[in-house]
Amino acid sequence: MSATRAGQSNSVFIRPALIKDVPAILKIERVAETATHWTEGKYLGIFEQQTPRRIALVAEDESGVHGFGVIQLLHQECEIENLVVVSGMRRQGVGNQLLCSLIEVARNHGAAAVFLEVRDANEAARALYNRVGFSECGRRKGYYHSPEEDAILYRL
Ligand SMILES: CC(C)(COP(=O)(O)OP(=O)(O)OC[C@H]1O[C@@H](n2cnc3c(N)ncnc32)[C@H](O)[C@@H]1OP(=O)(O)O)[C@@H](O)C(=O)NCCC(=O)NCCS
Repeated sequence: MSATRAGQSNSVFIRPALIKDVPAILKIERVAETATHWTEGKYLGIFEQQTPRRIALVAEDESGVHGFGVIQLLHQECEIENLVVVSGMRRQGVGNQLLCSLIEVARNHGAAAVFLEVRDANEAARALYNRVGFSECGRRKGYYHSPEEDAILYRL
């Protein structure tokens, strides 16, 4: 996938993540409480040949990486595993651009459905997923820990 120019609201580019982006990804993820938290090794694993396949995108401008998203592709399904924008750059359309780009990548890889799960109380993420067209399709009681919380499942 080639890098795409983001909307006119800002000057962020969305591009495929590279191994060199892992330190920036970790830095963004570690301070985002509601993000999914992975080890460095798991992020590095994105860049190895594997089944199911993972793909990560980053949002960057001339000052660096400000957000990222990760999908997992298996047969005709895609799962959005993480989506994080650095707190100082939120509500500027970056999350929406990352999410739409992840969906486009999934479609280009033949995905017929995109799934994700999110904390019940994560209003920002849920508003974004609703806006992009996801529908609620289930609830997993007590799925998350520290703090314990239900997961809401979404499908596009
Ligand atoms: C969820 C997240 C990625 C959204 O990123 P973002 O760049 O702020 O989102 P956008 O600016 O593209 O927002 C697009 C739309 O989503 C909705 N939205 C985003 N943040 C919102 C908030 N805090 N409250 C209500 N609606 C919100 C709005 O409809 C918004 O459009 P608008 O600004 O025109 O009203 C970001 O809040 C984040 O990184 N959160 C922490 C990590 C996380 O919880 N990730 C989800 C894991 S499942």
